[in-house]
Amino acid sequence: EKGGYKHFMLKEIFEQPRAIRDTTLGRISLDTGKVFLDEMKISDAEFRAATKINIAACGTSWHAATAGKFMIERLARVPVEVDYASEFRYRDPIIDPASLGVLITQSGETADTLAAQREMISKGSKTVAICNVVGAMIAREAHGTIYTHAGPEIGVASTKAFTAQLTALFLFAMHLAQVRGTVTEEESRTLIEQLSLIPGKLRDALRTSDKECEALARLYSNARDFLFLGRGIHYPIALEGALKLKEISYIHAEGYPAGEMKHGPNALIDETLPCVVLATRDSTNRDSRLRYEKTLSNIQEVTARSGKVIAVATEGDDQIGQLIDHVLYVPDATELLSPVLEVVPLQLLAYHIAVRRGCDVDQPRNLAKSVTVE
Ligand code: M6R
Repeated sequence: EKGGYKHFMLKEIFEQPRAIRDTTLGRISLDTGKVFLDEMKISDAEFRAATKINIAACGTSWHAATAGKFMIERLARVPVEVDYASEFRYRDPIIDPASLGVLITQSGETADTLAAQREMISKGSKTVAICNVVGAMIAREAHGTIYTHAGPEIGVASTKAFTAQLTALFLFAMHLAQVRGTVTEEESRTLIEQLSLIPGKLRDALRTSDKECEALARLYSNARDFLFLGRGIHYPIALEGALKLKEISYIHAEGYPAGEMKHGPNALIDETLPCVVLATRDSTNRDSRLRYEKTLSNIQEVTARSGKVIAVATEGDDQIGQLIDHVLYVPDATELLSPVLEVVPLQLLAYHIAVRRGCDVDQPRNLAKSVTVE
């Protein structure tokens, strides 16, 4: 049942190209660039009138939500607020009935996420679920569901569900943008074409990263702590890399916005602390180029203090390799989609470190696949 893989987690990491393809299947037109969502009890007029999007989720799904905020705000120009579902209803959230609620959940049964959904609905908001399990509770209570077609996820550490959630969020953001008229037809066609290329690029990323991450695991599996740094949409991916490492290898890890390092955490850096830095760049995008330049300075701040840097960078970037020892390259992509590629080496690094440490990768201690208590 593990299809020749040693663990479900590894099998599921390698299933990501298919999971992404299946999540886009039948929902995009390459000719027109149009995105079609599944049948919803939310009209286009309501999508157009939405004043705000409130997203609630937990754990890895919360990281997808935080990346989704960048996609929705950039493409559809609607303000997005992201909450931990486990905090949401305890702060008497202000919910305008003209806002839309979005719940992101692999299982569709997470108690905190369900409670956040009920809070949104009781305050007059309609909700969209992004869910991987057909007919799950949260999908049943939603006014519309975008199913992630990742297939059953057995490993407690979420991998393919995460990249499928990022894909579903991209589709949602594109649809909203098209309905609201914030993207042109030409932009839509380019972005949808980029999306259609992701499964092939993921295959390349998997092929190159696996062996390299295994080799890095040999060097770093005894580290006591790890830092993961990123800017913009790459920051939630840094958080996700840290969570993967924590939950399956029991190494303390922290994700941090790269630009915040000088406001405190720089004090932690020494030769024993590996820092994984997300340093991909989209050369067609000015903001991305600026972020990249700033990230390079952050890398230099770490190396100047003898910290060890493992960077995730874009293929063809020969500048970064001169600064540091370890670079994991991923294929070039439009910035809003690059998280789908750059999380792959982070998943594989966590996996290989956990295996070397003899941890139970698929069933980490103290954790359950679906958290049905509040
Ligand atoms: O099923 P859900 O997406 O609602 O689950 C949310 C979290 O419990 C889940 O993502 C958890 O953080 C994973 N173990 C992360 O790998």
